[in-house]
Amino acid sequence: MIKLIKSTFYKEEKTKRELIKFIKSAKILSFGLECKKFERNFAKYQGGKHCVMVNSGSSANLAIIQSLLNLGKIKQGELVAFSALTWSTNAMPILELGLQAVPIDVELDTLNVSSRTLTKILDKYPIKMAFLTNLLGFCDDIDKIKKLCLERKIILIEDNCESLGTVYKGEKLGNFGLASSFSFYVGHHMSTIEGGAVCTDSEALATMLRMVRAHGWDRNLSLSRQNKLRNKFKVNETFYSRYTFYDLGYNFRSTEIAGFLGSVQLKYIDEIIKKRQKNFIKMAIPIYSNTKKFLPIKYDHIDFLSNFAVPVICRSVKIRDELVRRCENKVEIRPIVGGDMTKQPFFAKHQAIFKKILGNSNAKLIHEQGLYFGNNPELTETEMKLIIKIFAQ
Ligand SMILES: Cc1ncc(COP(=O)(O)O)c(C=O)c1O
Repeated sequence: MIKLIKSTFYKEEKTKRELIKFIKSAKILSFGLECKKFERNFAKYQGGKHCVMVNSGSSANLAIIQSLLNLGKIKQGELVAFSALTWSTNAMPILELGLQAVPIDVELDTLNVSSRTLTKILDKYPIKMAFLTNLLGFCDDIDKIKKLCLERKIILIEDNCESLGTVYKGEKLGNFGLASSFSFYVGHHMSTIEGGAVCTDSEALATMLRMVRAHGWDRNLSLSRQNKLRNKFKVNETFYSRYTFYDLGYNFRSTEIAGFLGSVQLKYIDEIIKKRQKNFIKMAIPIYSNTKKFLPIKYDHIDFLSNFAVPVICRSVKIRDELVRRCENKVEIRPIVGGDMTKQPFFAKHQAIFKKILGNSNAKLIHEQGLYFGNNPELTETEMKLIIKIFAQ
């Protein structure tokens, strides 16, 4: 069986040896210097000003929305548009935090929201924020989406949990909006076992994210930021300043283990994504050229495609079912990410009024006729040949 994920880490043995050494010598294993070091390293890699490390991609999404609420950039009850084809914990925090989640359809050939599908929703509903997923390393015209959001004064946030390293028109995905989330869960581009991060160039948002990440207190802020807050709220005594909670928060902190692993794995990230890109090209070209079976997927507009799975959209449910059968006990497959969110029970329960607004959508078609198999850097030539044989024939 060719599994989606082969190992927890890239260079597993070496990484585990380094981890054992680190744990033996570390005095502190709760959030500390290693997490901060990783934040500096990751911000540099991504090319952004701030990185706030958290304990998962889902926490990153929740932290972004809570921070925007705390800052008054969005208000409860307002409308947030999101990609209908995404993962559950992209859409869920919108609902959990008292906002309304409006689905946007995706393009069939890029799997992603485009300026065209976004405009359709913006023209119909008073949207305050667009929380868009860059699905499986792909994107549509996100430069135009950015422009559109600027023109219409809509906050653009990217869920980049699946697209670390993809470059579009000279810019890394995750750098088009006000902030972006990342996941370091096993099987994503790099792993800290569980883990995530938010990147942003906004100092105010990064400061709020650091409070939201840890109980709503100010301990992880710079001295000047702490002084400002303490003066504003007249918190003069150290006895109380350590236990003053300024705004709504959670505990999303990472451990030093994740911070350490993050820096170790980040050293390999270029190698990892290059291998995956090579694998993708090797498998996608013969498989996608079977146009009798599959609908076309476009990626030639992307400078560098970085994904951890290869999606296929079958021309019919029958073809998809036949493929599922052929893959049994040979290749591990799954639906495309979380499928069409409007088809999920949680959406019908908590956001029934927007459940049917997309009608017969592309997201629905992808839900019903799509699937993906893994693209990990450890795939062998023999395994790739078998995958091609099963899919391309
Ligand atoms: C688009 C998207 N957002 C968020 C997440 C959540 O990340 P995590 O599993 O680290 O919580 C995932 C997970 O795969 C994802 O695919």
